[in-house]
This record gives sequence, C-alpha cells and structure tokens, in this order.
Amino acid sequence: MRTIADHLFDILENSVNAHANKIMVTFSFCKNLFLCRVIDNGIATSLENITDPFVTSRKTRKVGLGLPLLKATTEGTGGYLKMSKLGKRAGTSLEFVVNMTHIDARPFGDISVVFTDVLRSWPGIDFEIIVLKSKEEKKILDTIELKELLDVNILQDIEILNFVKEQLRKELLKIGINQQFGVS
Ligand SMILES: Nc1ncnc2c1ncn2[C@@H]1O[C@H](COP(=O)(O)OP(=O)(O)O)[C@@H](O)[C@H]1O
Ligand SMILES: [Mg+2]
Repeated sequence: MRTIADHLFDILENSVNAHANKIMVTFSFCKNLFLCRVIDNGIATSLENITDPFVTSRKTRKVGLGLPLLKATTEGTGGYLKMSKLGKRAGTSLEFVVNMTHIDARPFGDISVVFTDVLRSWPGIDFEIIVLKSKEEKKILDTIELKELLDVNILQDIEILNFVKEQLRKELLKIGINQQFGVS
C-alpha cells in the first residue's frame, strides 16, 4: 500500500529530476486535514495535464504515475492536489491535502526517513522543513544551517542522518503525525 511518505518521496524525486537544489517543505495537520506544500527551485515544466499518466518528461518509459496516483489518493478522501509554476527561473509549487480520517486515507508512513533517504541519495539538495501549527511556523530542519553548524559540506555521516531523522520524527509527532495514523 502506498503511504503518504511514499508519495512524498515521489514528489521530491520529481523536484530532483527538475534539477532543483533547494526544496522547502511545509507540513500542517489540523482537524484531521493533513496539508503538505513543496516548493522547489527546479526547472518548471508546463503543468497542463500534469496528472494525466501519459504526461511525463521521462525518457525511459512513456507513463508517469507519481502525480496521478497522488491526485487519486488526495481526492479519494475529499482532499486535493494543486501545482503551480513559480515563473521561468523560479521552480514549482505543489500542495496537497488529505483527510486522514477518511476511510480511504492512507497511513502517513515514515515521513522522516524519506528526507534522510533523499539526503543520502542526492547530497547536493538542501531542505528547509517547516511545520505550521495554529498559524505559527516553526522551522524543524534547515540543512544549510546544519551544515554550517557542523562544519561539513554534505550530510552523509550515518550518525548525523540518524540524528536528523529522530529530530524530524519528534517534531512531526508534536503535530500529531505518526507513522500509523491513517490506517483504515
Ligand atoms: N517539481 C517538478 N518540477 C518540474 N516538473 C515536474 C515536477 N513535478 C512533476 N513534473 C513534471 O510532471 C511529470 C509527471 O510527473 P509524475 O507523475 O511524477 O511522473 P514521472 O515522474 O514518472 O514522469 C514529470 O515527468 C515532469 O515533467
Ligand atoms: Mg515522478
């Protein structure tokens, strides 16, 4: 079964494929509605029919399923997926909402591990992760700041990645995002 975390990995992979090196992710979970917003600085493509499975910039196969599946996941619970182009050199913004108490909602899965997987696979990507609670924003990860603090060029050390993962897990739990939530 695809979890929200699986979808998130797909979205981040799309940003990486669009040559983004900076990705800002915002999470909020309020009144059973989970909201995720991803803003990247990659090369934006035309978003027309983007959730049509036959629209893909892949060279290896002719269908792209990430966004159509995410759209189905969100709309199946009464939520939505929306994407917008931020201008020629400014990347893409994607936002989706899932009603996590809907009978068809998927569990969150391990969102924190998605980020450490992405950092490990694509060390050139920088993240800012923000949680929104009662209209207040809290930054829970800033890889540029963390690298400066640790005086390293990339976050590859396993101990550092584990630390980042645990920090994220703790902060996401504070707004009610835990791995199992959403299992129907
Ligand atoms: N963040 C993004 N920036 C630029 N283009 C994107 C982004 N996300 C998706 N796209 C475009 O939408 C297409 C469809 O995405 P997706 O459904 O995930 O399928 P796939 O990644 O397999 O092509 C991609 O091939 C790409 O052209
Ligand atoms: Mg994809």
